[in-house]
Amino acid sequence: MKIVIVGAAGAVGKTAVEALSGRHEIISVGRTSGDVQMDIQDIESIRAMYRQVGRVDAVVSAIGHAHFGPVHEMTGDQFMEGILGKTLPQVNLVLEGFDYMNDRGSFTVTTGVTNRDPIPGGSCAAAANGALDGFVRGASVDMPRGIRINAVSPEVLEASRVQYDGFFRGHVHVSDEAVGLAFSKAVEGCLSGQVFIVD
Ligand SMILES: NC(=O)c1ccc[n+]([C@@H]2O[C@H](COP(=O)([O-])OP(=O)(O)OC[C@H]3O[C@@H](n4cnc5c(N)ncnc54)[C@H](OP(=O)(O)O)[C@@H]3O)[C@@H](O)[C@H]2O)c1
Repeated sequence: MKIVIVGAAGAVGKTAVEALSGRHEIISVGRTSGDVQMDIQDIESIRAMYRQVGRVDAVVSAIGHAHFGPVHEMTGDQFMEGILGKTLPQVNLVLEGFDYMNDRGSFTVTTGVTNRDPIPGGSCAAAANGALDGFVRGASVDMPRGIRINAVSPEVLEASRVQYDGFFRGHVHVSDEAVGLAFSKAVEGCLSGQVFIVD
C-alpha cells in the first residue's frame, strides 16, 4: 500500500511509521520534516500535498494541539484552539483526500485519552478529541467506494512521559508497539467507524 503519514516524525506518528514501514510504501509528511512538507492548518497546503503525492491507499494523521488551562479561565478563543488545532485540520485532511483515495482505502486520525479519562485543564482537548471521535463514527456510514475511517486514541505514550510529567497523574503509559498496532489495525484491518483505544 501507498500510505501517507502526517506527523510521521512525532511521538505518535513514529509508532505508525514503525508498524507499517516494513510492509508498505510510506510517504512521511510534516510541517518542517518528512518527504513532503505541509501545514495541515492551511487548506491550500493540504491540497498541494495531495497534488504532489497523488493517489494513495491510506492516509494516517498524527498531529494536533489544544489549549490547556482551567475551564473557568478559558475563553471561547482558547476553546477554539482545540477545534482549529486538532479537529478541523484532521477533518479537512479527510475531506480534501477523497479525490486521491483509492477504492477500499482508509483514513486514520489521532485523538486521545482526555475525553474518556479527563485531566485538570483538559476540557479543550477533551472537546477536540470527542468531536473528532464523533466525526469518525458519523462519517463511517457515509463513506463512498468502500473507503474506511477510524481514529486511534492513545493514553500517554511511554515516549512522552517526561514531556507530560505531572499532567496525567495516575495514568498508565503505553508502549510505541501498542500504539503502532492500533494504526496497523486501522490501516491493514477491515473495520470502520472505530475509535481504537490504546490504554
Ligand atoms: N504523545 C502522546 O503521548 C499522545 C497521547 C495521546 C494522543 N496524542 C495526540 O497525538 C497527536 C500528536 O502528538 P505527538 O505527541 O506525536 O506530537 P509531536 O511529537 O509534537 O509531533 C507532532 C508532529 O506533527 C507535525 N505537525 C505539527 N504541526 C503541524 C502542521 N501544522 N502541519 C503538518 N504537520 C504538523 C510535526 O511536524 P514537524 O516535526 O515537521 O514539526 C510532528 O511530526 C496530538 O493530537 C496529541 O494530542 C499524543
